[in-house]
Formats: sequence, C-alpha cells, structure tokens
Amino acid sequence: MWNISLVGFGNVAQGLARILADKRERLAAKYGFEYRITSVVTARRGCLVNDRGIDPEMLLEAMERDGGLWGCEGAMVVDPLAAIKSSHTDILVETTPTSLERGEPGLTHIRTALKAKKHVVTSNKGPLVRALSELAALAQGSGVAFRYEGVIMSGTPALNLVRETLAGCDIGHVQGIVNGTTNFILTEMEKGKSYEDALAEAQRLGYAEADPTADVEGWDAAVKACIMAVLFMDATLELEDVERTGITDVTPENIQTALSRGKRIKLVAEVYRERGKVRAMVAPVAVPLSRPLAGVMGAMNAITYTTDHLGDITIVGPGAGRIETGQALLSDLLAIHRGYANGDHPARMPF
Ligand code: HSE
Repeated sequence: MWNISLVGFGNVAQGLARILADKRERLAAKYGFEYRITSVVTARRGCLVNDRGIDPEMLLEAMERDGGLWGCEGAMVVDPLAAIKSSHTDILVETTPTSLERGEPGLTHIRTALKAKKHVVTSNKGPLVRALSELAALAQGSGVAFRYEGVIMSGTPALNLVRETLAGCDIGHVQGIVNGTTNFILTEMEKGKSYEDALAEAQRLGYAEADPTADVEGWDAAVKACIMAVLFMDATLELEDVERTGITDVTPENIQTALSRGKRIKLVAEVYRERGKVRAMVAPVAVPLSRPLAGVMGAMNAITYTTDHLGDITIVGPGAGRIETGQALLSDLLAIHRGYANGDHPARMPF
C-alpha cells in the first residue's frame, strides 16, 4: 500500500485523482498497485490530511462544487514540508505551479522529500530546469526514485522511450514540437481563428501555463530543450543559453505564405551539436510538409530523435492536458511500484 501526498491540486493533480478514482480496482488487480492519498496540500485551495486515506472522488467533487477543499470535513491549514516529511508519506506527487525563475516552491518540496527518503513524482518543470543534476544526486544518495515523465509531452512516453526502449543508442540531434499551447494556436490560426481567441481556448482547455507568456514567448519550450539536452545528450545547458523566439510575431499571412510554399510554421525546439558543444534553440520554423513534424496539429506534440543505430525515430502524441499529464504521473507511480516488486533499487534506475 503506497501512501501518497499530493502537493499542488490544480489541473494535473486532478487528472491523476480522476484516474486513481476510476481505476482503483483495475490498478490493484492488474499491477498489484494499491494506494492511499494521505494528504492534499495547496497554497490557495485548502488542505486535507487523513492517515486512513482521502477519497479522490470526494476531492474532485469538492473542486467541482467549491473550486477548493475548504468545504470538506477536516479541511485545515497544513505546512507542505510537514506533510512531505510525515511518516504517512511514501511518495510525494509535486504539481505546484511552475516557476521558471527559481523553481520554487516545487524545488524546496522536492529537495525536502528526497532528503527525507521519500520517492518523488512530478510534472513540474521549474525544479528540473534549475536543479535536475542536484535532485538526481540527492535521490541517488537517499536510495529513492525521482521520476518526471510528464515534464515533456505529458503522458506520451518521450522520456521512457529513450530510457527503456532506445537504451544503448546515442542521440546526436533532437528536434521537437514540445509546447501544446503554441501548436494549438498555430493550428487554429491556420483555420482562420485569431491569435487571441486561440490562446483563450488553449487556456480554457488547460494546456496553457498559469502565465501563458511562458508558452507564447517560447520559455516553456526552452525549458524542455534544456531538459532534453541533459537527458538525451548528456549536456547541461542554462535556460538563458537557449536561443529563443516565440510565436507572438507570427501572422496569419506568414502561415498562409509558408503553406503556399509546401511548409507549415511550427514552434520547433532543437538540441544539436556545433563544434563539439551542445546547443539549443527554440523558434518558429517553416517545416516542409514532407517531414513528420509538419503534420502534428493541435495540442499534439512530437519529437524526432536522431540516433546512431536507428536513424530518425519520431514519437507523436498529446503534449498537454489534465488526464494526459495525470497519466504521466500514474506511469511514474507504477514504475516505482514495479521497481519494488522486481526488487530493483530505485537509486540504480537511470535518470
Ligand atoms: N503549457 C504547456 C504546453 C503544458 O502547452 O505544452 C505542458 O507542459
């Protein structure tokens, strides 16, 4: 029985709660995975603690009804660090809003958990872009798992593909559409919608960051480029090292002109080697329609990995969304569970 503490209960954690509620019996029967949510801690939506377990269905109903947990029996103010360190927490699921500048408060939550020998599952990009190597070393030292499949392409297994299935390949170049919001906006603009209406729709659908300038100015894709540089090409890049242009200057005319030339404008994130150094860039690029990335529409994402043994491999799938990112968190929870069932030592799991 895994005791789970949810810190942050926005779209993504609610997506996980939805899946956990719907699939409790199936997860137990198929994987032997049993869970108890022992705390839910948020900064603005209220908190709950119950060592005997909190019903995820009840949490979702409260969010639907009140937009928060204050109306629930036993709602209280809880210090997130106390909940994380509690003996009733085995796994921290960290989904507080992403801050790209300092990675906080997620960074402190994750550090605290790893030091206290708690496993961590997160989809929060801020702590990773600021301190991935440090956090990985902390997890290693504590002998616990630190997993974050959802930081790129939500539940589409962009990280697990490389970690598990492409093991042994070296990747020399990565090119991807890794931001759902901007791909959705560009797709809608191609269909004739205005930039403003398309952005509002992306926000309504839960794709956009709390501050959507992180999406449209390319910061979110740049963060993902840094994470891809570490995970796929063994290079540490600072966010500020990424050459970055967003989509705010892309006009409907640009989109139509590109199409008339057999190309489609996409916000592309690229990690490549130049004179022995790994570099990264994010920019709107007119991609020839013959290339797989050009056919990736809406909130779909894709990454083409150029490998030594297989040439190009492209993975396409959802890049954002509530259930889609909830699935990423679930796959990480199940990976931790599987590791224990197999007797693996989590600190020996790669990244
Ligand atoms: N705002 C991000 C996107 C969410 O649109 O892709 C997923 O990282």
